[in-house]
Amino acid sequence: ATILVLNGPNLNLLGTREPGVYGATTLEQINQILTQQAQTAGHQLSCFQSNAEHELIERIHKASEDGVDFIIINPAAFTHTSIAIRDALLGVAIPFVEVHLSNVHQREAFRHHSYFSDVAEGVIAGLGPKGYEFGLAYALDQLNQKP
Ligand code: DQA
Repeated sequence: ATILVLNGPNLNLLGTREPGVYGATTLEQINQILTQQAQTAGHQLSCFQSNAEHELIERIHKASEDGVDFIIINPAAFTHTSIAIRDALLGVAIPFVEVHLSNVHQREAFRHHSYFSDVAEGVIAGLGPKGYEFGLAYALDQLNQKP
């Protein structure tokens, strides 16, 4: 099966961006670990990061054409603003897990609302880069249960 990992704006800066909040691990390091984790389980993983809302939407549309089975997404600041990315995920009807490195609920009030959480399979926040691994472990588990 194929799993897509999507990361939203500013996550290309991971490693140097507010390390007190987001940690020292780079996005490349996270993606390497996830690729390895999927390969070990006998599945394919693709990774995509963009700072542009429309590029994330178009990647989601392409995921449907490509037959992607599961999406792990950290929409970053679009979490709190993007009805359009929410609609794209609903439009392709690919199950997804929402991941946040930081515990958004411990932070500013404007980070407490997500346009994704009520339609996600599940939400992981505050566990740092491990959150992606846990989200992927769930996806792999789900995919292995499929006939
Ligand atoms: C984030 C939390 C968002 O509020 C923020 O805008 C981000 C990253 C996280 O991973 O903790 O860019 O999604």
